[in-house]
Amino acid sequence: MTHVLKLGGSVITEKDTEETVDTGNLATLADAVAEHDDLVIVHGGGSFGHPHASAHGVSTEAGTHDARGARAIHDAMKRLNDAVLDALHERDVPALPVHPLSAGARSVAGGLSLQTAQVETMLAEGFVPVLHGDVIAHRGEGVTIVSGDELVVAVAEAIDADRVGLCSAVPGVLDDDGEAIPTIDSFDAVARYLGGSEATDVTGGMAAKVRELLALDAPAFVFDVASTRAFLEGDDVGTRID
Ligand code: IPE
Repeated sequence: MTHVLKLGGSVITEKDTEETVDTGNLATLADAVAEHDDLVIVHGGGSFGHPHASAHGVSTEAGTHDARGARAIHDAMKRLNDAVLDALHERDVPALPVHPLSAGARSVAGGLSLQTAQVETMLAEGFVPVLHGDVIAHRGEGVTIVSGDELVVAVAEAIDADRVGLCSAVPGVLDDDGEAIPTIDSFDAVARYLGGSEATDVTGGMAAKVRELLALDAPAFVFDVASTRAFLEGDDVGTRID
């Protein structure tokens, strides 16, 4: 059973303190991951990617031709990727980095094309590929941001993943009472619950997540750190989107 697991930036970083890893959450997640194989990990930006992206006016749609700015965003994401890889290697997880800036591009219309032969081959050879939200060349825009959620969808489709999980700061997609909605099969049915994210988020918060996951063939789950182990064991946790 192949899983694609996204570690949300707001989970693995302290979202309000710039470039700070949430070492407690990262350790809990790395412990859970260490018990499984056949897994691709994608992580978000949190307090590493988002502040640099907004400082340079870059989002998934608005680009820049400023190479220094693009590099500042990319380098911040590589620092976070290093922290994730370190936590995994400490637990003997055979993780390898995959940097999307060097593996894809967007068309004028914004469509993402991503090379995945390296991800497939790493998986076949027993490695755990670890991708991250990044800057990516965008025809007509310079570079824009590619979010971890977009990468999850692209990778899950390319490798025909069985299940997709988004570990987020909340236990699912929440209704007005703060309870996780058990299943979502249409955007309109839940649109009223999908507000913006509070800290700096240049990639669209929960609404964008749900739209992307609905478009996916494999079932996707949104859950929190505490449910990650159960997700990897094959349980339905948090909110199921399909
Ligand atoms: C954002 O990725 C990456 C950058 C800002 C460079 P995500 O949008 O997936 O990050 P989180 O999970 O919301 O922090």
